[in-house]
Amino acid sequence: MSIEFSFMQQGYPVFSGENALSLLEELLNVPNDFSKMLVLCDDNTFEHCLPSLKKHLPSSIPFDFFKMKSGESSKSLSVCESIWQKLTDMKMGRNDLLINLGGGVVCDVGGFVAATYLRGISFLNIPTSVMGMVDAGLGGKNGIDLHHHKNRIGSFAFPIATVCDPVFLNTLPDVEWKNGCAEVFKHALIGDAKLFEMLSVDGCTRANFNSLLHSIQGVKLKVVEDDPFEDGFRKVLNFGHTVGHAIESASLKKDSTPLSHGEAVAMGMIIENEIMFQLGGLNAYSNSKCREVLEKHLTKVKITSYSEDELLEWMKFDKKNANSIIRMSLITSIGSCSWNVEVPQDIIRTALQSFR
Ligand SMILES: NC(=O)c1ccc[n+]([C@@H]2O[C@H](COP(=O)([O-])OP(=O)(O)OC[C@H]3O[C@@H](n4cnc5c(N)ncnc54)[C@H](O)[C@@H]3O)[C@@H](O)[C@H]2O)c1
Repeated sequence: MSIEFSFMQQGYPVFSGENALSLLEELLNVPNDFSKMLVLCDDNTFEHCLPSLKKHLPSSIPFDFFKMKSGESSKSLSVCESIWQKLTDMKMGRNDLLINLGGGVVCDVGGFVAATYLRGISFLNIPTSVMGMVDAGLGGKNGIDLHHHKNRIGSFAFPIATVCDPVFLNTLPDVEWKNGCAEVFKHALIGDAKLFEMLSVDGCTRANFNSLLHSIQGVKLKVVEDDPFEDGFRKVLNFGHTVGHAIESASLKKDSTPLSHGEAVAMGMIIENEIMFQLGGLNAYSNSKCREVLEKHLTKVKITSYSEDELLEWMKFDKKNANSIIRMSLITSIGSCSWNVEVPQDIIRTALQSFR
């Protein structure tokens, strides 16, 4: 796989492929005039990714780093405050650059910090997880959590570029790999039937990821290009997430070892397909084919410990709802998706019951 100038996101390039890091020197020196840089990383990317990055940063621009604790708990105002303070201590100005080196958490926090510090400074995303490369590092959404409310505070801001070098994935733990794969299948189901066919055979593995990366990113970037600020079409990216988030929230509240986001979204996609089937919007073949493929390649999760009432309560919080009516993004066939589909609660109950 060669480095490829694969896509634009709101006028900014996404470079993906082996050795993409080698583009950094040119990218940072030529069109820009950065006088210094701060690299944001977490415990793991500090250890596993920063050493490789350092070799590719232009020696002419001084840099420092900020290491935050890894994990979702860092998507907090207090962590942002520490980074804003660090930028202030470094006297970073509008001509300087924040580099986000990490998974979705680092990209989300760093994007938000950059968008708000001095009303916006430049930032570069260098995602290091599957989730980061196929989803969080693309598309210009960033943000933090407000206590238990995920992604409650945030903004839209686009990086000067996103650079995805799969070399970083060599150190990504398997459990995080699988987590990101749920979003890979989601992208295929909402926008690329051919990609879904390829994934149905072997799944999304370390062996085939590099060859599929451009197709996977292509789905999200085309959606973002069409509707950058989520006025409508971009909601298709939420397929699997209305039910998925409800399962994830119920599990976080109850289980001593909560389900991962990827496990919950995988189950969310399967149940949402059943809902669309019952609404008459998805045929029986596609519904069962998706279920078979998702259960084979992603974790099969039991939802018996969460009641229908409980899951419905969580769904009522979903940001896509309007006038207390639950709205979902649901696929109409493999590779195409509709959004703002109003779903009666009795259909949701019936679909949930079929997984008991
Ligand atoms: N903004 C968006 O559009 C968007 C889209 C999807 C997800 N997200 C957000 O992304 C976050 C999840 O992202 P994630 O799954 O990447 O989680 P994460 O950033 O917490 O990374 C998962 C774990 O992998 C480690 N890690 C990352 N890269 C590594 C590497 N190369 N080697 C070793 N360890 C590595 C991290 O330190 C962490 O422990 C969530 O907060 C979610 O809300 C945002």
